[in-house]
Amino acid sequence: MRIFICGFGTVGQGFAEVVADKTSYFKKRYGRDAIIVGAMDSKSYVVDQNGLDPIGLVATKKDSKRVGANTYTDSTAVLDMVDYDILVEVSPTDVNTGGVGLINIKHALSKGKDVITVNKGPLALKFRELMDLAKTNGCLLRFEGSVGGAMPIINLCTESLAGGEIKSVRGILNGTCNFILSKMDNGQPFEQALKEAQQMGYAETDPTNDIEGYDTACKVVILANSVFGRDVSFKDVDITGITSITEDAISMAASRNMVIRLIGEVSATKLEVSPRLVPKGHPLGISGTLNTAQILSDIAGPITVSGRGAGRLETASAILSDLIAVMDKRLL
Ligand code: HSE
Repeated sequence: MRIFICGFGTVGQGFAEVVADKTSYFKKRYGRDAIIVGAMDSKSYVVDQNGLDPIGLVATKKDSKRVGANTYTDSTAVLDMVDYDILVEVSPTDVNTGGVGLINIKHALSKGKDVITVNKGPLALKFRELMDLAKTNGCLLRFEGSVGGAMPIINLCTESLAGGEIKSVRGILNGTCNFILSKMDNGQPFEQALKEAQQMGYAETDPTNDIEGYDTACKVVILANSVFGRDVSFKDVDITGITSITEDAISMAASRNMVIRLIGEVSATKLEVSPRLVPKGHPLGISGTLNTAQILSDIAGPITVSGRGAGRLETASAILSDLIAVMDKRLL
């Protein structure tokens, strides 16, 4: 399997490391390797039909801040320079236009390539169009890591719980907001907590997307479309972020043995992101950067999952599971 990686930031590099680490796993399971034939960041690219050294790519990026020596103006022209089977699209999220990620995903699908992405912009804006494009061209479009990072949620609902009807999903889907609110529980001011979240590499390139609830809204849309079969986009979500949560509100909640958490909720009729009062000790009252979700299925009943919602290897683990699903389908 030949992979092209678009976006070589934290997640792209983590995924390259995972590909290197899983060489013997791929050989054992499929009798062949998964190779990276192209990598692109916002400024540069490198391609080699015979395969690139994943660890070398990470080292080049670290040393020169670029993944390759070549520059480009048209990312789709770069994609066309090599033969690849799977596009791993992990460029930064643009919730307004879908950005270069949307262009790349459409281009790859229209050429019959399978796509794995964690890029929330294209999925939150053009979900149905992309799924239709994949279907028309006989391709797979998978996106487990786009919601909850390492926490299994999309494939859990659509595959592991297949056959049942998912009634609702409610959860903490943004680690930055949860980190800030948890710090505020301990008396830390909002701005200081946000700065810490940024230093940890959790916040989006533009943290407005986190604190205004836009990142959670994208995830809610992805769940609504993929798990509930709805046809909604970002503009359909009722969104309230955490910027107006005052220290007084946090203290008042604490005096009632509650915490305030930013909750995303989706069902057949609901599409909402809002700060809510949650009793201390409740599964949705967790602290720190973890994500958590409560799934209610008609047959399976309630299921709660939690895990790391972001991170270099954590997000790469979700991409790996999608890669294996694609390879199983194509190679077995
Ligand atoms: N900014 C996001 C978060 C990263 O804080 O959870 C993962 O989507």
